[in-house]
Parts: sequence; C-alpha cells; structure tokens
Amino acid sequence: MQQSMSLPADIHQTEKTLAEAVKLVRQYNISPAKADEILAGLYLLTDKNRLKRRVCQFIFLTVLRNKPLIESAIAAFSKRRPKSDLSALLQCAAAEILDNPENSPKIVNTYVQFAKNSLSLGEAKFCNAVLRKFPSFFQDFKERALSFEKKAVLYGHPLFIAERWRRRFGEEAALSIMQRNQRPSKVYLRKCFSQGADEAFERNSDILSPVDAFEGFYALSRGGFERIAPLLKDGFAYIQDPSTGIAARMLSPKSGMKVLDLCAAPGGKGRLLADIMKENSLLPGAAPADESLIVSVDKGTRRMALLRDNFKRENIVKNIQVDCDIVNSSLAGALESAGAPLEYDAIFLDAPCSNSGVLGRRPDARFRLSESDFSACADIQLSMLNMAEKFLKDGGKIAYSTCSIDEVENEAVVERFLKLHPQFSARGSTFTGSEDSDGCGAFILERLT
Ligand SMILES: C[S@@+](CC[C@H](N)C(=O)[O-])C[C@H]1O[C@@H](n2cnc3c(N)ncnc32)[C@H](O)[C@@H]1O
Repeated sequence: MQQSMSLPADIHQTEKTLAEAVKLVRQYNISPAKADEILAGLYLLTDKNRLKRRVCQFIFLTVLRNKPLIESAIAAFSKRRPKSDLSALLQCAAAEILDNPENSPKIVNTYVQFAKNSLSLGEAKFCNAVLRKFPSFFQDFKERALSFEKKAVLYGHPLFIAERWRRRFGEEAALSIMQRNQRPSKVYLRKCFSQGADEAFERNSDILSPVDAFEGFYALSRGGFERIAPLLKDGFAYIQDPSTGIAARMLSPKSGMKVLDLCAAPGGKGRLLADIMKENSLLPGAAPADESLIVSVDKGTRRMALLRDNFKRENIVKNIQVDCDIVNSSLAGALESAGAPLEYDAIFLDAPCSNSGVLGRRPDARFRLSESDFSACADIQLSMLNMAEKFLKDGGKIAYSTCSIDEVENEAVVERFLKLHPQFSARGSTFTGSEDSDGCGAFILERLT
C-alpha cells in the first residue's frame, strides 16, 4: 500500500472528502479490520480523484498512528464515549490538528461546519466546544510527557509493546523506534535485474535517490508516484522496503540452484531471489541463469493470484507455484502433485509474524497485537522451520526471515531450532530498522555436512 505523506497546508477539504475520511475511521472503530482492507473495501480503489484519495488515506492513517493520544483527548472532554459518527469526526479533526497545529483554527472551523451539516445541532455544539480545546490539550500533553509511559501514548504505541522494546533494546532505542514509527512511511523501489532498468532509473534520478547501505534500493521523492508507474509496468522496479533485501542477500543463492520459497506471496522476496540468481550467473564459472528454479509456496487463492501476477514477467528463472497450507497439510504431497522437487539447495522461509518491525508502515497492526501473540507466532515459525528442514539438501542453507524485531520470534526461534537440529549452525540477527528501513529478523541456518 502506498502511504501518503503529510498534507499540504493550503489543502482545501471538501465536505465530501471529510465525509469519506470519517466513514473510514467509523468503519475501523466498528470493526477494526486491517487498514489495507478497509481502504480497499470502501470507495478508494474505484475513486478516480487522487487528491481526495490521498487526503482520506492520510487522515485515516494519522488517526491510527495517534490513536492513544486522540482517545485521551476525547476522554478528557466528554463524560461518555460519543456516538460512532461523532467520535469518528472528532478523531479525524484531531489527526489534522496533530499534523498541522498552526492551522488549527481553520481545521476546527471546517469540522464544526461539517458537523452542523451532517449531525444534530446538539452534536455540532459539542464538537465546537471540544475541538477548540484539542490544540492546547495536545500542546500540554507534549510538554508534560516526561515519563516513558506518557511518551508511549504520545508516540502512539500500546504500553506493553513499548515495555517489551525498553526491556530488549533500552529506553532510548525504544523511544526512537516509536518516534520513527510515527512518521508517514516513505516509498522505496528496488531496481530489478532487467535490461533497460539502469537507463530508466537514470532518467528518473531527480525523484529516485539511492539508499545508503542497501544496494539497489531507492527512496522515491514526494509527488513522484505518477512518474514511476511505467517503471513498475515495464518490470524495471518493484515497490519494496530496503529491509526486505537483507535475508535474501544473506542467502544469495547461486545461479542454477533449486530454491524453495516458503510463505512466498505476494512474491517480493521471491522476485529478488530470482534477480540475485541472475546476477550470480554473471560470476566466472557460474551455471546459466535459466537452470535456476524457484518453487514458491503459499496458501489461498487470493495470495497465489498476487504471486502469479508478480512472477508473470520472470522468463529466465523457472518458477513453480504451489498452493499449500504448510502447517496443516502435506507439503511433500503438494510439491509432488505440482511436479516440484523434494530436495533443495536453499530454502527461504519468510514466516508470518507479529509485524512488530513494520508498525510504522502498518499503524493498525500495533492495536491488534497482544502479549501472547509473540509466543503464538514463535511456535508456528518453529514448526515451519522444522518442516522446511526436511526438504534441505546436505550442505544447504535456510534463510529465516521475519518482519518482527521481537527476540521471541527471532533469536529464540533460531535457538530452539538449533537445539532440535544440532547439525545446523546459525548466523544473523534482529535489525531494529533505520530512517530508511523497516525492522526485521534475518538469519542463515546452515546444515553442516
Ligand atoms: C510475510 S508474508 C510473505 C511475504 C512474501 N515472502 C513476499 O516477499 O512477498 C507471510 C506469508 O505467509 C503465508 N502463510 C501463513 N501461514 C501459512 C501456512 N500455514 N501455509 C502457507 N503459507 C502461509 C501468508 O499467506 C503470507 O503470504
């Protein structure tokens, strides 16, 4: 999903746009589904008005990023929780005030006018009284948020997540992860291994800046989205966070290898693995790239359709796609039915996880997590690794990758795996993320011969 950047200060909100933003937030309040699903499920995919789409998406995601603080503000000025329409309207107004405090008077007037036209007179009066207090409430909160607990509210994270990070990384690092998660995410592109990609990136070098320490990744400047559409269409670029390259580069499969990509959909890392094998085919003595094979496994028709779409341009590295629930059904049976091998030189497992490393990009995920989710994910991850190991050749390597920065899902899973499989050695670590990358876990488990 493309996340919007901050709104221009002089943007003119129409009532229709506000109504849509309020509808998104109301929908989330009633049934807190994933933000992507709510954005896709309402009008957004069909609406042609890009600015309106951007404004709605921005307001919605800013509400989610600041949910604890906005809820404190609403609770401070209303005895009972306001009804759903009114509550969503107050949340949207609060998000805009937080984004642009200097513009508060105009924002308050716009929303009060909107309340007059769309709610009862009593509710509009209530809005007027409450919204005028929000700017100073937020200002005071910021100035007085000296404790770690208050800062967790200010930076929009549930306290139990903040505490986990404080215990693991220390207070300063925990605060800096939370602060980073509050900024609207940038868009990054990976340059694909494709004839013409270098020239296409060169032509767009004014909007694409290389990311330090992440070879092949570029940050897209604001407003550049329309211009890169042809690069995506022509297969020169893929929208991907730089952190997604870490585990794939650590594995760096040779050209000609058989690679099993587990939990592969929609296929971002699989496409990178294919590109790495093509790059490696240029090394002296390497096997031709077209002897390489990636078998991509994921479950469900929708995820598999995305994977198929992503691989449709790949015409050098062979690809077999297998729809299989690798926890609840036989992977061996599914591979056999698809005509895929049962032994691999390298396995990439991009396991489902808590997503704790990508909470900036997915602000809704922080509010779905609970303390027990980390160990529940870890048990599934370990069972997936145990299953993956059965398909690995002697001397082969498994890349274990997560979008989590939690020790329980990263180092602890690897340690549990090594206890069960002493013939493996491991390297890798948790990356907490940076200004230019999400957090992740990336490990290589190598079967000793
Ligand atoms: C982190 S995502 C994978 C992203 C993917 N590797 C990529 O780079 O585009 C995790 C994937 O695990 C898949 N998954 C979760 N449980 C699974 C299971 N039991 N069997 C197969 N796939 C599963 C999900 O469908 C999801 O696509």
